[in-house]
Parts: sequence; structure tokens; C-alpha cells
Amino acid sequence: MDENEQIVEEAEAAASEASDSKSLYEAKMRFLGRQGKIASLMQRMKDLAAEHRPAFGKQVNALRARLEEMFAEHEVHMKERELQRKLAGEQVDVTMPGRRHAEGTLHPVTRVKNELIGIFSGMGFEVFEGPEIENDYYNFTALNTPADHPARDMQDTFYLTDEFLLRTQTSAGQIRLMEKKKPPIKMLSPGRVFRSDDDATHSPMFHQMEGLVVDKGITLCDLQGMLDEFARTMFSENSKTRLRPSYFPFTEPSVEVDVSCYMCGGKGCALCKGTGWIEVLGAGMVNRHVLENCGIDPDEYTGFAFGMGIERIAMLKYGINNIKLLTENDVRFLKQFKE
Ligand code: DAH
Repeated sequence: MDENEQIVEEAEAAASEASDSKSLYEAKMRFLGRQGKIASLMQRMKDLAAEHRPAFGKQVNALRARLEEMFAEHEVHMKERELQRKLAGEQVDVTMPGRRHAEGTLHPVTRVKNELIGIFSGMGFEVFEGPEIENDYYNFTALNTPADHPARDMQDTFYLTDEFLLRTQTSAGQIRLMEKKKPPIKMLSPGRVFRSDDDATHSPMFHQMEGLVVDKGITLCDLQGMLDEFARTMFSENSKTRLRPSYFPFTEPSVEVDVSCYMCGGKGCALCKGTGWIEVLGAGMVNRHVLENCGIDPDEYTGFAFGMGIERIAMLKYGINNIKLLTENDVRFLKQFKE
């Protein structure tokens, strides 16, 4: 009997000392495992006289039951303690400040493009995007620039094959649209264009915005009125435009469009090189051959078209002096274009 009590005490002490489930289990095995204390008590049975065996067995079984109950209780407490410890370790300080993510900004080219779309869609223009890989017909021939035409030299073309090329101008989209849609037409076509050209103001890839209006009775005055509106919204309220004669194969007459310098108001400064005017785009009345190529009767309909470089507008508007800044993606530069 004394020995039993001693074993219970020892087991209790071992269970209380256990610091986690693992050591508690090990303690339990020292008493109740196959090589534990209880098992070795049972071993003694064979040394006893037969008549003492049942009483002895009963005692050992009672002892085993007590120990099992005692360990079971400890296990419940241990589980609870371990859960509390785990929860305490995972506690979150909800008062801690969150991580800030750097806010992105729209690229200046995207901003100007969106602004242009805003201005012209307000005048009823619809956006149409043509493909970047074009064939010779859409980029040149249908635009009244057949093979051998000297105007092909105005743009250095990247040819992919004899027939396919990277479009040098969004003007190619005019033909694609007029083949599909008949007047009245008011189209705006933004997109990438490619030319073998590379210096501080030219990049082999840049963006253009093309405009096309075809309807009955369209004149050059309509073009200038619309450009005035564009210049006032894009540059400054007091901006004016002027047309200078120029040449493009797909327009007749063709003009180069200048906007009064918004820096000096037209007096002459470094930006406008003392002239008071800044060249911003090419335009003209759609050449009748171009209309004919698209199955539109030039005696019934007339139209104007214009094309501008988006990078150029962005550089003018934001005072950017090198076109490369627009493709380098230096965040220190881009960060300056916050709303
Ligand atoms: N496609 C011309 C260029 O890339 C720009 C241009 C000039 C477009 C006159 C036009 C236009 O639509 O009428 O230089």
C-alpha cells in the first residue's frame, strides 16, 4: 500500500513538472508505458504465491486506473495552457501603423493621350485603333504615296518583309476606318508608331494621335476652329493657332499647325526660339485620291485630317527637354506627374 502511494506521489510530481505535452507524455510512459513502473509491478506477479495473485492484480489495476485518470487530467490542462501560449504568441497589435504602398502615377504620355481623347470626344470624335504591324498599302499606297513616291523618304521605315512594316504613322488607320464606315466620320486614332530615327527629340518608337473628319461641306475653317479649341484646352486659354503651307501626300492643301507660345504669350522666348510660335502638328484637307481609294465620292464629301506626336505635346506641355526621359521609366522623373 505504501509503495502504491509513493508511486502516485512520484507520478503526480513528474506530471506537474512537465512543461509541455511531449514531456508530459514521456512522464506518463515512465509509469504507464510498456516498460513503465506499472508494467514492472505486474512482472512481480509471477513470483507470488497463487492465492495472493488476484488481490495483487486488483491493487495494481486500481493503481493503473488512478494514474491514468491523473495523467488524463494533466493532459487537459496542458492542452489548454499550450493553446493560451500559442494565442499569446500570435497576438496582433491592432494599433500598429500599416505599411504604406507607394502610389503610382499615370505616365505623361498616357496623361496627354487621355487628355486629347477627352478634348476630342467632347467634340463627338470616336476612338479607333489600327494595328501596329501594317502592310505597305495602308501605310503608304492608299495614302496617296505609291512605291517610288519621293515622300516615302520623309519617314525612315522599319520593314519586316517586302510587304509588312511597322507603321510609321497612325494615318494608316484613316484608310482602315473609311473602308468600313461611310461619312459622316469623326475619328480619333491614338497609337504607337515606329521610325528609324534617334536623337534628343526623336525616338524609334513614339505615339501619335490621328484625327479624321469627313462629311458634306467640311472646309479648312472647320479644321482651324477645332484646332483653336484644342489649343485653348491643352495649353492655355489665350492660345491661338496659325496654319502654314506644307506638304503631305494624303492631304491637299496641307498645313503645318503652330500654337502661340504659352511661355511668352507670343513675344518670343527660348522655348519658341524667339518666334512666338511652336509647331505642334501636321494637317490638311483629305486628298481626293485618298477618299476615292476608300470608295468615298470626293465630289460629294470633303474632310480634314490631322496628326500629332503625343510625346511632342507632352514635352511642350511639361517642359521636358529629352524624349528619352519618357521611355527610361525613372520613378524620380515619373513621380513629378501627380494629379
Ligand atoms: N502622318 C503625318 C506624319 O506622321 C502627320 C499628319 C500630317 C497626319 C497631316 C495627318 C495629316 O492626318 O493630315 O508626319
